Amino acid sequence: MVRKYKFGAPFETEAVTADLPLCSEPCPYGTVDTASGFSFTCTLGARDVVYGLGEAVRGINKRGYEYVSFATDDGNHVEDKRSLYGAHNFVVVAGTPSFGVFVDCPARLTFDIGYTRQDTLHIYSECADLYLYIIDGGTPYDIVRQFRGIIGRSYIPPKFAFGYGQSRWGYKTPEDFRTVLKEHRNTHVPLDMLYMDIDYMQDYKDFTVNGENFPDFPAFVAEMQRQHIHLVPIIDAGVKVEDGYPVYEEGVEKGYFCHNADGSLFTPAVWPGWTHFPDVLDPEARAWFGGQYRVLLDAGIDGFWNDMNEPAIFYSKQGLADLAETYREALPEGEDMALLRVAQQGAWLAGSEKDYARFYHNVGGQMVRHDTVHNLYGYNMTRAAAEAFARLRPQQRILLFSRSSYIGMHRYGGIWTGDNRSWWSHILLNLQMLPSLNMCGFLYVGADIGGFGSDTTRDLLLRWLELAVFVPLMRNHSGTGIRRQEFYQFEQPEDLRHVIRVRYRLLPYLYSEYMKAALGGDMLFKPLAFVYPDDPFAPQVEDQLMLGGEVMIAPVYTQNAAGRYVYLPEEMDFVKFLPDGTIAEQWLPQGHHYVEIALNEVAMFIRKGRCIPLVDAAEYVDALDLGTMQYLGDKTAAYELYDDDGITPVAE
Ligand code: NOJ
Repeated sequence: MVRKYKFGAPFETEAVTADLPLCSEPCPYGTVDTASGFSFTCTLGARDVVYGLGEAVRGINKRGYEYVSFATDDGNHVEDKRSLYGAHNFVVVAGTPSFGVFVDCPARLTFDIGYTRQDTLHIYSECADLYLYIIDGGTPYDIVRQFRGIIGRSYIPPKFAFGYGQSRWGYKTPEDFRTVLKEHRNTHVPLDMLYMDIDYMQDYKDFTVNGENFPDFPAFVAEMQRQHIHLVPIIDAGVKVEDGYPVYEEGVEKGYFCHNADGSLFTPAVWPGWTHFPDVLDPEARAWFGGQYRVLLDAGIDGFWNDMNEPAIFYSKQGLADLAETYREALPEGEDMALLRVAQQGAWLAGSEKDYARFYHNVGGQMVRHDTVHNLYGYNMTRAAAEAFARLRPQQRILLFSRSSYIGMHRYGGIWTGDNRSWWSHILLNLQMLPSLNMCGFLYVGADIGGFGSDTTRDLLLRWLELAVFVPLMRNHSGTGIRRQEFYQFEQPEDLRHVIRVRYRLLPYLYSEYMKAALGGDMLFKPLAFVYPDDPFAPQVEDQLMLGGEVMIAPVYTQNAAGRYVYLPEEMDFVKFLPDGTIAEQWLPQGHHYVEIALNEVAMFIRKGRCIPLVDAAEYVDALDLGTMQYLGDKTAAYELYDDDGITPVAE
């Protein structure tokens, strides 16, 4: 059962699509107080587990820390970070009884999950204008499915988007892309996508292409397409301020950019220097901004990644003016001291809370201050694109994912989890986020394989790929200036080739399970306890996941490990894809095991009485041949394969 409560005058986020009556009975699971802001408090039982929150640090069980929903551009995803790029305000308390809480509030919101008091869940915000949804009935898994039922169907990407993608901030010229492609094709390492980071643009201007490097961009896109490569350009939130740049001039003329309290345009600095933010909360401006993608669609592009849309701000005109004031005020203490003050304060200019409280959106003629709706920006930028694609390409699925997001955006695109690092702990973090994101509707998800920041190592990349072969968005991406991490940068590249090829062998299964999850409002990745609710150990398992209806994954995520401990809630087939192309299978009984998994092996487990399809690898998704299909697991079982042409939109 879903109970919907309304407090004050909430902003309509459109996170929930179901039309639900308002509930007037008191909330059965906690105390709600709106005397000053909003507060929801309940007591947690000693063994209760708290699931959810989508993109957040720490474990699958969120208990024991405090998390803040406030979309933040912060590339240092360490344990004590309270906010990452997304804001996903849904948790499930697995207790007696279990219940779910979704707080539909686009402003800053805090989830104190046993942080202040270990036995207390406290959700609070200064904002008291919101909807609260309380969901109960059945297991935590049942509660998630009910929640998914009210927020609308998850985004369905084209099938090619399940292939492997190579990215790097720094690819600039056609030759850069051709080189990567050649390395893949020459050694038969599958590849479907090449990602174009900001350097493809002219001076970082959205919807432009550097004319010197790409004198005939459509011809380059076609050249790549002939080799079965989809180019996926990045689009940033900020539109460069530059006379003569049509997107800027039209946006200014039509009043489609966010503005200051006095009506002047808000001017933050991001990659292009001074920019304006398209006011994507205004439906007219949203349609206009979405329409800009057309120039790239017309060039043959069929995939995009939306970046910097928290929206990220390096500094603003007003922020700099404040800094100058700080300098002037400190001058009587001496110039050194004044400069020191500026240096200290300057560090806080990026993503400054003051800036988020300075600018406004136009919503139905009302001025809405940005910080009160902050978490909706990435959602609506991505929605702008998706709505435009539905208008401009109604017969085609377009690949689309975003860095920032809010529940509701899961209907329009996927997400990648931003600037992680080449750290072993980030392989585990990647795994732990998967079920949490799925709970919140985000199915097409992935992390930068190999790590975005810091220098990677060959073994880290291999182990990360061995998780990523199961993850819908499989993209190797890295920042500029760090060690290169394309597969061919390392010795014995055949090991990396082997792992990537396993992805393609599994692809019909992964696509089938993705589609079943999307069409059925289900999760693709589940914590073990969702599948084995009576198992006493399952709620403790933080480094294994159930994938689809048949598989359990338990990747190695520590350096120099020859294998790992794994818990099997039932008898399972331990499957290893060996580097010589053969497959080892061994049925293991229920219980705790140590399993050996070499650096160049991909391991997984198939449940008792289940089987999965497997095909021969191919160099790109379209070349996969279902005629080569065989089955792994229990050979007496049957598997129902979902398949389609992978490009036609699937009717709701
Ligand atoms: C930040 C993004 O998170 C990263 O993936 C990208 O490479 C840089 N922006 C440059 O565009």
